Amino acid sequence: MHFHRVDLLMCTLRLHGTLVALAAAMFLGAGSLMASDPDRVDERVRELLGRMTVAEKIGQMTQVNGAGGSIPDELAEAVKTGRIGSILNEVDVDTVNRLQRLAVEESPNGIPLLMGRDVIHGFKTVLPIPLGQAATWNPDLVRRGARVAALEAASAGVNWSFAPMIDVTRDPRWGRIAESFGEDPLLHSVFGVAMIEGFQGEHLSEHGSIAACAKHFAGYGASESGRDYNTTNIPENELRNVYLPPFKASVDAGVATIMASFSDLDGVPASANAFLFRQILREEWGFEGFVVSDWASIEQLSIHGLTANDRESAHAAVTAGVNMEMATSTYADHLPGLLQAGEVDLELIDEMVAPILRTKLEMGLFENPYTDPESFPAMSNPDHLAVARELAEQSIVLLKNDDRVLPLDREKLTSLAVIGPLADDGYEQLGTWIFDGDETISQTPLQALREFLGESVSIRHLRGLETTRSRDTAEFEKAVSAATESDAVLVFVGEESILSGEAHSRADIGLPGAQLDLLRRLGETGKPVITVIMAGRPLTLGETADATDALLFAWHPGTMAGPAITNVLFGVEAPSGKLPVTFPRMVGQVPIYYAHKNTGKPATPETFRHIDDIPARMPQTSSGFVSSHLDAGYTPLYPFGFGLSYTEFEYSDIRLSDERVPMGESITVTATVQNVGEVEAEEVVQLYVRDPAANVTRPVRELKGFERVRLRPGERREVSFELTAADLAFYGRDMRLTTEPGSFHVWVGGDSNADLRATFTLSE
Ligand code: NOJ
Repeated sequence: MHFHRVDLLMCTLRLHGTLVALAAAMFLGAGSLMASDPDRVDERVRELLGRMTVAEKIGQMTQVNGAGGSIPDELAEAVKTGRIGSILNEVDVDTVNRLQRLAVEESPNGIPLLMGRDVIHGFKTVLPIPLGQAATWNPDLVRRGARVAALEAASAGVNWSFAPMIDVTRDPRWGRIAESFGEDPLLHSVFGVAMIEGFQGEHLSEHGSIAACAKHFAGYGASESGRDYNTTNIPENELRNVYLPPFKASVDAGVATIMASFSDLDGVPASANAFLFRQILREEWGFEGFVVSDWASIEQLSIHGLTANDRESAHAAVTAGVNMEMATSTYADHLPGLLQAGEVDLELIDEMVAPILRTKLEMGLFENPYTDPESFPAMSNPDHLAVARELAEQSIVLLKNDDRVLPLDREKLTSLAVIGPLADDGYEQLGTWIFDGDETISQTPLQALREFLGESVSIRHLRGLETTRSRDTAEFEKAVSAATESDAVLVFVGEESILSGEAHSRADIGLPGAQLDLLRRLGETGKPVITVIMAGRPLTLGETADATDALLFAWHPGTMAGPAITNVLFGVEAPSGKLPVTFPRMVGQVPIYYAHKNTGKPATPETFRHIDDIPARMPQTSSGFVSSHLDAGYTPLYPFGFGLSYTEFEYSDIRLSDERVPMGESITVTATVQNVGEVEAEEVVQLYVRDPAANVTRPVRELKGFERVRLRPGERREVSFELTAADLAFYGRDMRLTTEPGSFHVWVGGDSNADLRATFTLSE
């Protein structure tokens, strides 16, 4: 669709706001004033459907891109005639209100618009990328972050966020891993629900609530070779056990909408996949919200090779149960003809439109279609920044700390070299998907260090490399001199924002450009080198770790990167982030994840032979016939759940409420964790389970619970987890969710290698 820019007369919306809302309510009839009242919603939906023309119904199924602060004639006309149900990417509040006014006052049935936007990790205040948020293992904080994002977005007129992305992914090459919560189904479920609760609040109609959208249904995270939009082949059992549970949890938590994936799932692209939308989402899970396609993903069905043309694509998507089309117009162009030809019937159209109307009613949009920014807290106010800082702080993972070089002691420092392309770049610290983020309010590490250290420490700052990809080493000498003249060296390297996110996959996930060379040169000075990495994905960090004394992984931390990192560097807060995804040694190990199957020939330290240890002309059995890579071995560089602290935690005394548990009862697993170091710190206590013999093979470990605890030096705490039969259930060969009796191992510890184990038996 092509729109021409026009200037419309601006009305003073705030003055008109109340009057117009009242008029809209009157239009709905006195009995409809409480249209979001649950008992009345279905009745209202029926009433509306009874009045709407076919064109208006198809209109509700159509979402178009906004024009960015203006309303071209064609768009205005389409809204006025009820041919559009939703607009995405319009965040100019006056334009949003004008569009809503056209819909509410002028369209035949006064149906307000859904205004969608990718509010992925914050709005103006940018929170850490979702992968970083997952590293906090703190759902309450993630919920608060999503609320901040919802308030800021809602004040700009956005009422629908295309988040959370809950695609389990085990491929760090995939650029969109940055938007995900990592490799684990439970983390995705917990954080997905936390975000949904933050966006949607207690009720969708609450002031400041916006509709959430769990995406991408389903399997997108398994894109072959991590190349974006690539094909996925996921056996149904794997789909049900790994990729679908976070979506089920989101549906149970009341997520308003679901987005279809771009990807081809076992030969049927998601946007035409009736198994996904009809069988699983609606029939098995009873989802009552609506499904939106991804951008042009219905039109792309013919590019995939599933359909011959747009008409067939519209038919395939609507019969599969995709309620709304994003960005393209195959529905608008072809549903009328398909109806006329009897290939689609009106009942199907009503079935597709009803949940869209229901969602709008539940959101209270009919009563409150307009946005008054003044009724919201200011963007990026101190409370919002505090949440952003806390999230960033708790997301930082300490990967290495030789000789306890960290935390730095400000009393003992007189000079500091601050080097690297990411030390003072307010834009690059924000990460992917920051359409509305404001880099001018970013607090960079350099700024925060200067503020924290004041005049007492002299800071020598050099970028060293222009960007993270640069290979020009011209500034290295200066950087080395600055390091030589300083007490310690802080290096900020990693990936620029553009290196991760949609369509930004990488085949080599090492530190880009000449950054490793820079680190090595700085290391030659003999000064303590502390490296802070900002990146959108796990990187292969073996050589980086070797070249540095301490290594902090900060993801893309967002607006408050500077204060968060500074607090951790100087021990104001001990690092407490834990990896939500495995870090491989080499990219060739991918996919490598903790919840793998055991295989028939698992490698062990005793059986594995490294390539360097195999003498020439050794016989075929040299590798020990175990499952491993000769060069990379069989373990990752850093395991899932891993993260060091400035203290140490000791785990002991694992015990069970009972060693034999009948199926209907729960079992409590308890362990003691003690802070045996000298600083107060937080630890994420993790519970893993293994079902060693089952109808289908089960992972060697699965995360089943976690809890963040804060412990003073010397303090011990008993941490308990309750397990029920439901927690032990899985989809077997018959694709039914079952819990099998038998023995189960449980581990409690600080990462997925935890060795404190107990065993119980679940009886019939
Ligand atoms: C395409 C992305 O896949 C999806 O996640 C996003 O919400 C839409 N574009 C809208 O921007």
